[in-house]
Amino acid sequence: TTAPAGPRPAVLVARRIFAQTVERLRTHFDVETNDADDEWAQEELIRRLQGKAGVLLTGTQRVDAALLQACPTLRIAANMTVGYNNFDVAAMDAAGVVGTNTPDVLTETTADFGLALLLAAARRVTESEHYLRAGRWTRWSIDLFAGAEVHGTTLGILGMGRIGQAIARRGAHGFGMRVLYHNRHRLDAAVEADCRATWVDKATLLREADHLVLVVPYTPQNHHLIGAAELALMKPTAVLVNIARGGIVDDAALAEALRAGRLAAAGLDVFEGEPRVHPALLQVPNVVLTPHIASATVRTRRAMAELAADNLIAYLTEGRALTPVNQ
Ligand code: DGY
Repeated sequence: TTAPAGPRPAVLVARRIFAQTVERLRTHFDVETNDADDEWAQEELIRRLQGKAGVLLTGTQRVDAALLQACPTLRIAANMTVGYNNFDVAAMDAAGVVGTNTPDVLTETTADFGLALLLAAARRVTESEHYLRAGRWTRWSIDLFAGAEVHGTTLGILGMGRIGQAIARRGAHGFGMRVLYHNRHRLDAAVEADCRATWVDKATLLREADHLVLVVPYTPQNHHLIGAAELALMKPTAVLVNIARGGIVDDAALAEALRAGRLAAAGLDVFEGEPRVHPALLQVPNVVLTPHIASATVRTRRAMAELAADNLIAYLTEGRALTPVNQ
């Protein structure tokens, strides 16, 4: 690629990403990087953003009115995540700053992981592995780690965007499941038919699902969307999977439901206040806990970083973001 003529815009890569992606950015921009996995504090981020036209973020650092006011040269914030709850979209609109995310490239990979957590939780994969590793497996037993059935059961999906639909297709076509979903908007009939999914209201979804997968974006309205009252509607034999965002589930209420046997099991990839995990969740055996890795395959993480870089390049060299969330 030939670098465009004229002064090169300056961009900031706010966390360690792949060296190849940084090298590609350097062919277009003056690039400053954070080469560590630790995030800069917000004040440090703001300081480093002085004079920068773009920033590549990993979805956690806030782009809010205070940052925008303190960084008047900023024109684009490119998340290398599909979720963008770190953006104050209204403030970005007001400041004329475009935000971008990385849809599509992680859809199927993230859906795979949703199924992995569902299967692991329902079939007690990690719980039984811990038992074996602890040297406690001494004999066959008729109900040793007998878990919940997955194939042929009812799969509930809360949030029916791209990832929800990819999970629905896996459940319906791969595991012969009846798929129910709840979403603010009903999908087109053709999409419903492809996913073999039926829209129901939220209470029906909670009551009827044998397994419930959460795939909604995090917004203030979705804070504790699943709390004690919602958990009480679910079957005690049900499995709950959260691959969306921490804060959508009330982790303390979930831990209590799991402890009291009001829910069979859970699979969680995201947590309120992560990387901290609610201590009560660490005390219950019937939950599979993973460190926010649903999109983490080598190929997909590269594709996410490349798409975030492509957004910076397209917007700052041609004025056209590829996957904007605003403007
Ligand atoms: C996303 O893309 O929003 C994930 O949570 C980060 O991998």
